[in-house]
Amino acid sequence: MFFLKDDLVVKRIFTISMTLSMALFILPAYAAEEAVERDLGNSGQWSGGENVYAKVCGYCHDTGIGPSIKGRQLPPEYITHVVRHGFRAMPAFPEPYISNEDLKSLGQYIQQTTPEKK
Ligand code: HEC
Repeated sequence: MFFLKDDLVVKRIFTISMTLSMALFILPAYAAEEAVERDLGNSGQWSGGENVYAKVCGYCHDTGIGPSIKGRQLPPEYITHVVRHGFRAMPAFPEPYISNEDLKSLGQYIQQTTPEKK
C-alpha cells in the first residue's frame, strides 16, 4: 500500500538521521576525551622539573591551596615521598602520571628554588 511504503521511508530517514546526529554528538566528546588523555597520560606533555612544577604542583602550591614549597630547601627524597604517597590533604601522583625521571628533576628543581616574592 502506498502510505505503508511511505511510512517505511519515513522510519528509515528517521533512523538514519538519529544515527547521524548521535555520531555527531559522540564524536566531539570522544575527541575531547582523547585530548584529555593525551594531557594526563604524560606522553611528552611535560618534561623537566620546572615544567612539571608549573603544570602540576603550581596549580595548588602557587595559589595558596597548598603550602609554599619553593625556597625551603626541601630535600628531593621528601618531595618524592610526598608526590608518590600523598600527604594528608594532598593527593598522590603515581608513576605514569609523573615519570620517575621527571620526579627526580622535579625534586632537584624545587630544592634549588628561591622563595616566591609576594
Ligand atoms: C590538588 C592540589 C595539590 C597539587 C596538585 C599538589 N599538591 Fe602538594 N600539597 C597540597 C596540599 C593541600 C598540601 C598540604 C597537605 C596538608 O598539610 O594537609 C600539600 C603538601 C605538599 C608537601 C609538604 C609541604 C610541607 O610543608 O612539608 C610537599 C613537599 C608537596 N605538597 C609537594 C608537591 C609537589 C612536588 C607537587 C607536584 C607534583 C604537588 N605537591 C602537587 C596540594 C597539592
